[in-house]
Amino acid sequence: MKQSMMILCLFLSLMVQQYHHRGAAAQRQSCVAESFSGNGLYSSCNSLPYLGASLYWTYHPSNATADVAFRAPQTADGWVAWAINPNASGMLGAQSFLAFPASNGAITLFTTAFSTYALQPSDVKDENLTFAVYDKRAEYGDGYYTIYATLALPANSTRVNTVWQASKQMQDGVPYGHPSGDNELSKTSLDLLSGEVVSAGGNSRLHRKNIHGVLNAISWGILMPIGAMIARYVKVFESADPAWFYLHVVCQFSAYVIGVAGWGLGLKLGSESVGITYHKHRDIAVALFSLATVQVFALLMRPNKEHKYRVYWNVYHHFMGYCIMALGVVNIFKGFDILAPAKKWKHAYAGSIVTLAGIALVLELLTWGVVLKRRWRSSEKPHHGASHGANGYVFSQHQAL
Ligand SMILES: *[C@@H]1O[C@H](CO)[C@@H](O)[C@H](O)[C@H]1NC(C)=O
Ligand SMILES: *[C@@H]1O[C@H](CO)[C@@H](O)[C@H](O)[C@H]1NC(C)=O
Ligand SMILES: *[C@@H]1O[C@H](CO)[C@@H](O)[C@H](O)[C@H]1NC(C)=O
Ligand SMILES: *[C@@H]1O[C@H](CO)[C@@H](O)[C@H](O)[C@H]1NC(C)=O
Repeated sequence: MKQSMMILCLFLSLMVQQYHHRGAAAQRQSCVAESFSGNGLYSSCNSLPYLGASLYWTYHPSNATADVAFRAPQTADGWVAWAINPNASGMLGAQSFLAFPASNGAITLFTTAFSTYALQPSDVKDENLTFAVYDKRAEYGDGYYTIYATLALPANSTRVNTVWQASKQMQDGVPYGHPSGDNELSKTSLDLLSGEVVSAGGNSRLHRKNIHGVLNAISWGILMPIGAMIARYVKVFESADPAWFYLHVVCQFSAYVIGVAGWGLGLKLGSESVGITYHKHRDIAVALFSLATVQVFALLMRPNKEHKYRVYWNVYHHFMGYCIMALGVVNIFKGFDILAPAKKWKHAYAGSIVTLAGIALVLELLTWGVVLKRRWRSSEKPHHGASHGANGYVFSQHQAL
C-alpha cells in the first residue's frame, strides 16, 4: 500500500515538475523537441496562442533571412495558412503561405497576398509576395500540416506581425473562408531575435488554458481515483479504520476544491471565447460539477453504519463516484483534443491513468485474497464470536502487499 502511494506521489510530482519546467523554460524550449522532415532543426519556437499552431524558426542575422516551419493541426481535407503582415496586423495585407490539398490530393503550397476582405476564389492564387521567398514547401502527416519557408524578413526587421489560419472551408479547389472566434484572433507580433511575443494577450490565454488543464487533470483525473482507491482498498485493513475514511474525505475534498477552481477557470475561458463553444466538453463539465457537488453534500446525509438504509446510500455513493470518475477522465481527454498540447502531455496523463488502473487491479486481487482468507479463517474457528472476530484477523500492511 505504502509503495503504491509513493509511486502515485512520484507521478503527481513528475507532472507538476514537468509543468513547472515548461513554464520556466518558456515557450522556446517546449516545442524544440518536435521533429521535422529532412532533419530540419530550428533554434527558436513559439507555441502560438490559437488553433494549436506553433512556429519554429532560425534567424540568420548576416543576411536578414529566416528559415521557418509553421505547424498546425488540421484534417487532411482542410487547409492551414501562415503569413507575415509587413504593415499591419490581421488578414489585410498579409503575405501568406497557404497549404491545402489539390483536387488530386497532393499537398499544394501557394504564396498569396491578401489585399481585400471581399475576396473571390480566383484571387487565391500562387503569386509573388512583397518579400523574397527563397524556398517553400508543405507537407501533411499525423493530423498536422507543416509549412516550410526560407524568406527575407520585410525591411530587415526581426519584429514581425504574424497571422495564421486553419479551416476546412474550400471553394473552387482553393482555401476560401474560415470560422469566426479563435480563427479571427489568430495573430500576434513576434520578435524573431529574442523569441518574445511582443504584443501579448494571446499567450496569457494559452497560459490560463494550460492551468485549467493541469488543475482538472490533477483533481478529477488523478486525486479522485486515488481517493476512491483509498476507500476501496485501505478499508480492508481493520487497523486502518477510521484512518481510511479521513484520508478518503481529505483526498476527495481537495480534489473537489481544486476541480471547482479548474472548472471555474474553464467557464471563464469558455465565456471569453466568443463564437467557439466546445459543447460536449462544456456539458460534461457542468454535469461533473453538479454530480460532484451532490456527492459532497450527500456525505452530510449519510445514515449511520447500523441504519438499514445505509446499504442503499453506499450503493448510491459508489455508483455516483464511478460516474464522476468516468466523466472526469473522458472530459480530460476531450480537453487534450481541444488544447492540443504537445503529445507528451496526453501520453503522460494516459500513462498515469493506466498506472492507476494497474495498481487498482493488483489491489483488487490482493483485497479479494485478504477477504477470502479471512472468510476461510473465520469458518475454521467458529468459536470466535463475530463481535471479537476482528482481533485475530488484523493484517499488517506488509503481509498484504
Ligand atoms: C543566409 O545566411 C545563412 C547563414 O548565415 C545561409 O545559410 C543562407 O544560405 C543565407 N541565405 C540566403 C538566401 O542567402
Ligand atoms: C509597407 O510599407 C512600406 C513602407 O513602409 C512600403 O514600401 C510597402 O509597399 C508597404 N507594403 C504593403 C503591402 O503595403
Ligand atoms: C515572381 O518573381 C520572379 C522572380 O523575381 C519572376 O521571375 C516572376 O515573373 C514573378 N512572378 C509573377 C507572377 O510576378
Ligand atoms: C537588408 O539587409 C541586406 C543585407 O544586410 C541588405 O543588402 C538589404 O539592402 C537590406 N534591405 C532593406 C530593405 O533594408
